[in-house]
Amino acid sequence: MQVGIDQIGFYTPNKYVDMVDLAHARNEDPNKFLIGIGQRKMSVADQTQDAVSMGINATLRYLDQVELAKVGLLIVGTESGVDQSKSASLFIKSALNLPVNVRTFEVKEACFGMTAGIMIARDYVRLHPNHSAIVIGADIARYGVNTGGEVTQGAGSISILIKADPQIMTLNDGHSAYSADINDFWRPNDSPVALVDGKYSKNVYLDFFKHTYTAYQTQTGSKTSDFTALLYHLPFVKMGFKANQLAIEKEDEETKKRLADNFTASACYSKEIGNIYTASLYLSLLSLLENAQLPENAKIGLFSYGSGAMGEFYSGQIVNNYEQALHKTADQTMIARRQKLSIPEYEQIFNRALQVPEDGLELASDEQSGMWYFAGTENHVRQYRQK
Ligand code: COA
Repeated sequence: MQVGIDQIGFYTPNKYVDMVDLAHARNEDPNKFLIGIGQRKMSVADQTQDAVSMGINATLRYLDQVELAKVGLLIVGTESGVDQSKSASLFIKSALNLPVNVRTFEVKEACFGMTAGIMIARDYVRLHPNHSAIVIGADIARYGVNTGGEVTQGAGSISILIKADPQIMTLNDGHSAYSADINDFWRPNDSPVALVDGKYSKNVYLDFFKHTYTAYQTQTGSKTSDFTALLYHLPFVKMGFKANQLAIEKEDEETKKRLADNFTASACYSKEIGNIYTASLYLSLLSLLENAQLPENAKIGLFSYGSGAMGEFYSGQIVNNYEQALHKTADQTMIARRQKLSIPEYEQIFNRALQVPEDGLELASDEQSGMWYFAGTENHVRQYRQK
C-alpha cells in the first residue's frame, strides 16, 4: 500500500502589492526586488484574514472530495497562531464539520511546521489505512513596513489530504533531518512582526540544505540525476534558486536543464504570492504540478527549512494522471483575481491588521462570496463567518 498526497487546496487573500511600486516607494532599483530577490508581487492579508480563515478557505477547495467520517487527523502548522492555548485547528475543524473523533492539534517550528504535520500524517495513515489526514499550513509573513524583509512578505495557505492510494504523489520511505539551536529568524511573544538576521538566515538555509541533501543521498543511495525536480521552501525565489544551483553544479547538462526548468515551474506561484512560511514548500509543489509536464513516477525531492532551525529532505513519486486531481484553472483564477493596492493603501491595511480589534466590534470582509473570514471577537472569543 502506498500513502501520499491525494488533494491540494490553495488560498491567498484578494489583495497584492506590486514589487516595482514597492521598490519605487523605498528608493530601491526595481531589479533588486525582481531579479536580486526574485519576487514580482506579494499577497496582503487584511484584518479579516488570519491563519484560521485562510486554512478553512484552502481546505474548502477540495472538501467535497473527502469522506468526512474517515478523517482521523487534522494538523495545522503555523507561525501566525491566533491563540497561545487553543489550537487554530479546532476553529478549522468546526468550520469544516469534521467528526468529533478527529485528533486535532497545531504544530510549531517556524516554516517547518507543515512538513512536521505531513510526516506525522504519512505515518498515521500507514498505521490506519482506512483513515485519511488533513494537514494545513497557513501563514502571514510580516516583517514590517520599510524593513529589509518587507519585500519577502506574503499571505496564504495550502491544505493537503494524505491518504492511502493517493491521486497526486506517493511519499517515499525515509527522510534526513538536521537541527540546531540558532537565531536567524524568530518572533517574540510581544512582537506582531518577525525579527530576522537576513544575511545570516540565507547562509544557514544553504548549510541546512547541504546537510540534509547529502545525508539523504547517503541514506538512500539516490543521485541528483534520479530526480525530476527538487523543490524548496521559498521565503523568496532567489533563496531556492541558490540552493538549486548548489544541487546541480556538478551534474551533466541534461540533469542541469531539467532541474533548472522544473525549479522555474515550481517558483511561478511564490513569485506572485510571496512568502507563506509553513506552506511555502507546498506552494512550490503545487506550482510545479500545475506548470510543468511530469512523467509518471517522476521522483520529486522536497527540502523543508524552518528557522531556529530545523531542516528536512524527503521525496515522493508522481502518480499517473495526477493532473485530474488538480484545480489548476481555479488556482490560477484565485491569483489573477487579486486587486492591486497602492503603497499607501498597503501600509494602512498592514498597520490596521497589526492591531487587535476592540472586543465586540464586528469586522466586515470584502472577500468574495463563499470565503470565510475573521469577524472580530465577542467576549474575547474569536468569531469566524462565511461571506
Ligand atoms: N539588480 C539585480 N540584483 C540586485 C540589484 C539590482 N539592482 N541590487 C541588489 N541585487 C541583488 C544582490 O546582489 C543580492 O543578490 P545575492 O543574494 O545573490 O547576493 C540580492 O539582490 C539581495 O540584495 P541584498 O543587498 O542582500 O538585500 P537586502 O540587504 O535588502 O536583504 C534579504 C535581502 C533577503 C536578506 C531581506 O529581504 C530579508 O532579511 N528577508 C527576510 C529573511 C529571509 O527570508 N530569510 C530566508 C531564510 S528562511
